[in-house]
Amino acid sequence: MKLNLIDTHAHVFMDHYDGDREKVIARAGDEKTGMINMGLDIPSSKKSVEIAENHEGVYAGVGFHPHEAKDFGASALRSLLDLSVSDSVVAVGEIGLDYYRDNSPREQQRKAFRAQLDLAVELGLPVSVHNRSSTEDTLGILKNRDELPSGVMHSFFGDYELAGEILDLGFYLGLSGPLTFDGESDLRDTVGRLPLDRLLLETDSPFLTPEPYRGKRNEPAFVSHIGEELASIKGIGVEEVGEKTTENARRLFSLDER
Ligand code: NI
Repeated sequence: MKLNLIDTHAHVFMDHYDGDREKVIARAGDEKTGMINMGLDIPSSKKSVEIAENHEGVYAGVGFHPHEAKDFGASALRSLLDLSVSDSVVAVGEIGLDYYRDNSPREQQRKAFRAQLDLAVELGLPVSVHNRSSTEDTLGILKNRDELPSGVMHSFFGDYELAGEILDLGFYLGLSGPLTFDGESDLRDTVGRLPLDRLLLETDSPFLTPEPYRGKRNEPAFVSHIGEELASIKGIGVEEVGEKTTENARRLFSLDER
């Protein structure tokens, strides 16, 4: 299937979709929108792989979210390694740090983050990185490594300077629903100055629903609204945004080899 858009970060395995998961995936397929569902722990990573193996244009990330890092250890790492043998696995994610919620002790979060960066290097896979109120440590960990995997800063928030630091690492920047929100004009200004060949579209479904659906459950088909916003910011056509960001996703996640 030739994809028009790719939602590079979703969680369609979550129970929010238990009543209509197949319809949600089909709606994305109807619009030729691909998706990568990023795991949050072992059961959800497993579910993500199962879903990807059974649907065209659907891929999987396997990983342990910082919220769950308290349960991360050697056995989790082994399970992620086992899951990664599936051809549908294109990323290690969602990994990173979250000092806003602090659902796991920070030292545990850093340990899980480092171990999964090592795993990504070992597997030759890119990472999808979550960073909330933890920019200093997130960048510190990424910068102070001998070998850094390729990757994307998921749901990028920040100024032009921070974007530059992330781009300097060779990372891509993921744009999500908040780009469409009224209060985020600073983010739009920043994005307007960023190179199109390093941007990815993502929904983080079921969260971060873009306008005009803000407040409702998100789904991968809504990624088109983020693409439209990016087109308007850049003053280019939606087709070009679709083409370029899909090409970026194919490059980063090596989708043509799947
Ligand atoms: Ni997420």
